[in-house]
Amino acid sequence: MRKKIVAGNWKMNTNLQEGIALAKGVNDALNNTNVNCDVIIGVPFTHLASVNDVIDSSKLGLAAENCADHKSGAYTGEVSAPMVASTGATYVILGHSERRQYYGETSEILKTKVNLALENNLTPIFCIGEVLEERENGSYLEVVKAQIEEALFELSAEDFDKIILAYEPVWAIGTGKTATADQAEEMHAFIRGVIAAKYGETIAENTSILYGGSCKPSNAAELFAKPNVDGGLIGGASLEVESFMGIVTAF
Ligand code: PGA
Repeated sequence: MRKKIVAGNWKMNTNLQEGIALAKGVNDALNNTNVNCDVIIGVPFTHLASVNDVIDSSKLGLAAENCADHKSGAYTGEVSAPMVASTGATYVILGHSERRQYYGETSEILKTKVNLALENNLTPIFCIGEVLEERENGSYLEVVKAQIEEALFELSAEDFDKIILAYEPVWAIGTGKTATADQAEEMHAFIRGVIAAKYGETIAENTSILYGGSCKPSNAAELFAKPNVDGGLIGGASLEVESFMGIVTAF
């Protein structure tokens, strides 16, 4: 059975002290709540080691929001997968549309990052999703299929089985405009079919596919009720304990 997962993506928000307080808040809330899914928080690099010290890793997973496409060396300002792993984080968000759009991350670069993450025992939360124009011109399924094929389909079955996918339609991220549950289900079922055709039914059934894009406590339950929606990647609503927990408890 594939895992149900709610993952926060804090993006470039909170200073270190605020981040530690938020992580503690989520951790405490999880201690007092019965949850039916895995919970992860994705935090800025600067926060990873300190946040790792204040959370119970058996209840709350820790993710970086990116890693470098090199292992080490003269890449001023970059943070490598081994560095991320050394903080105690066990997940890394890769291929977020903001990274693709603002920092020129191509499928070729992402392929390298995915490999480095896996070599360092980090579980990639790999993001895919179409822009509004692609939604409107009807090419969205093909666009997402190509994103998956280009960055992930050279992986062995064993390695692909470790990947968590996050479908995030770019037009829904931070816009307040959520995909409908039916739109999400259409895409998630399609993605599962693409995986099944390449790696077989068992791996496709095992792959957690999260939805992201203006997911909130008010719409999470409807999205998560869809058979192929295995949870959420949450931006804005992960920055407050109450709204994040409102989504976690939608399962
Ligand atoms: P949002 O962001 O929930 O603020 O729309 C989601 C994401 O970008 O991961």
